[in-house]
Amino acid sequence: MANPTLTTAAGAPIADDNNSVSVGERGPLTFDNYQLFEKLAHFNRERIPERVVHARGAGAHGTFTLNKSLSEYTIADFLQKEGSTTDVFLRFSTVGGGQDSSDYARDPRGFALRFYTNEGNYDVVGNNTPVFFLNDPQKFPDFVHSQKKNPMSNVPDAARMFEYWANHPQSLHQMTILMSDRGIPKSWRHIHGFGSHTFSFWNAKGERVWMKWHFVCDQGIETVTEEEAAKLPPFGAQQDLVDSIENGDFPSWTVKVQILTEEQAKEFPINPFDLTKVWPYDLAPLIEVGRFELNKNVENYFAETEQAAFAPSNFVPGIGSSPDKMLQARLIAYSDAHRYRVGVNHHQIPVNAARCPVNHYQRDGAMAGACPVTGAKNVPSADVNFYPNDRSETPKPDSKYLEPAMPVEEDAWIGRHSQDDEDYYSQAGDLYRIMSEKQKDMLTSTIAGGLSQASQSVQDRMLSYMSRADEDYAERVIQKIG
Ligand code: HEM
Repeated sequence: MANPTLTTAAGAPIADDNNSVSVGERGPLTFDNYQLFEKLAHFNRERIPERVVHARGAGAHGTFTLNKSLSEYTIADFLQKEGSTTDVFLRFSTVGGGQDSSDYARDPRGFALRFYTNEGNYDVVGNNTPVFFLNDPQKFPDFVHSQKKNPMSNVPDAARMFEYWANHPQSLHQMTILMSDRGIPKSWRHIHGFGSHTFSFWNAKGERVWMKWHFVCDQGIETVTEEEAAKLPPFGAQQDLVDSIENGDFPSWTVKVQILTEEQAKEFPINPFDLTKVWPYDLAPLIEVGRFELNKNVENYFAETEQAAFAPSNFVPGIGSSPDKMLQARLIAYSDAHRYRVGVNHHQIPVNAARCPVNHYQRDGAMAGACPVTGAKNVPSADVNFYPNDRSETPKPDSKYLEPAMPVEEDAWIGRHSQDDEDYYSQAGDLYRIMSEKQKDMLTSTIAGGLSQASQSVQDRMLSYMSRADEDYAERVIQKIG
């Protein structure tokens, strides 16, 4: 539209947007200034709460292409036909810092990937690491508190981080990754992604297998040191992503899965539902299934990236959860966060709206768009708002989507479980042993820098965990702490 006329939010043309209505040249303003009031009032409400974790991030749209059908394992619509494509949206993030922090913090990176499938949105809300610091969600708020800024001084505090890890040997594996040379990625384009949890696929025969997602970075892993990071502009990774997509240099990831049958899982040497551990590749080989690329920048950062509401509970038929305790808590936590942060009708915002018909009986709430005259898509018709009903053309459940029952592997009981595990160490040791001399040196120097700020008791416990992973690991840290 050439030279459009400025209007109010209600569409009324505005004659003058520079000068308020006043009582004469030098007098006060009047109540006629409804255009000014609208402007100020909207400005006051421009912010929504930032995410409580993963506040800082960047997003882009793209396309997933399936190269190998997974129909043997799952009825998931987007995993059936080789060569089929599915739109995706990916948001990268750091974890601990607020929106005002740096792209180059030593921190895991969030890797939240949404597939807009023909049977609903499927979200893999993962990280750039295959494991996590915890395996019981009860600990998540305490963990995050310990890693964020000191609540008194409001500055980052390494001693508190190590104090948490000293109380939790299950964190050693992820802590080793975080403190290694992989701890500060060079850009959003140079990280792998992992679903991290164990999920399940189920097929048309009602058979279930356990699975893990791997998104292998086609650009290769690139990282920076702390010294290099300190010299980089805080928005460097954001700029790099926008520029590379703008220049047609589309970043891509090869999509792979690991699969275990229920029988294999029972015989597996480690608990396959423990988020602090990986599935060794020799026991569960990677199977390549496709590739996705990011090929379109967002047009409006706030509308798309900031309002993106990813949820591990956004499953589609053929994909389900597992007994992973962390995953189960996440099935509740995210939608709850979205209702607070974005609103109860966050599903209707374009970046969150499914690209397939949405039919349900949930109604109303703040910002509901279910009014046929607006022409809004993805909102149910307002007519029939209860189920069951006697109308023929209203939405009804379809038993062909019934998920097979989830097996329970031991005699069922209800009570507090124990997180004690004799071996929170050997996988951290395996990782340490495949590092080069230079990588070992960087890892142990970084740990020594932080651990030296912690109390003697914290140091002793951390060193005992490291020595159980590998004697040399602990020895080098001891030497560097002096
Ligand atoms: C019990 C454990 C966890 C809880 C309670 C939890 C909770 C949350 C919450 C409340 C948010 C903010 C959501 C929003 O406002 O949109 C969030 C974001 C996120 N979490 Fe978690 N989280 C947990 C564990 C994990 C794990 C294990 C991973 C990765 C494997 C992960 C990856 C992410 C990512 C990538 C985001 C950002 C999503 C985005 O880009 O919008 N979280 N988490």
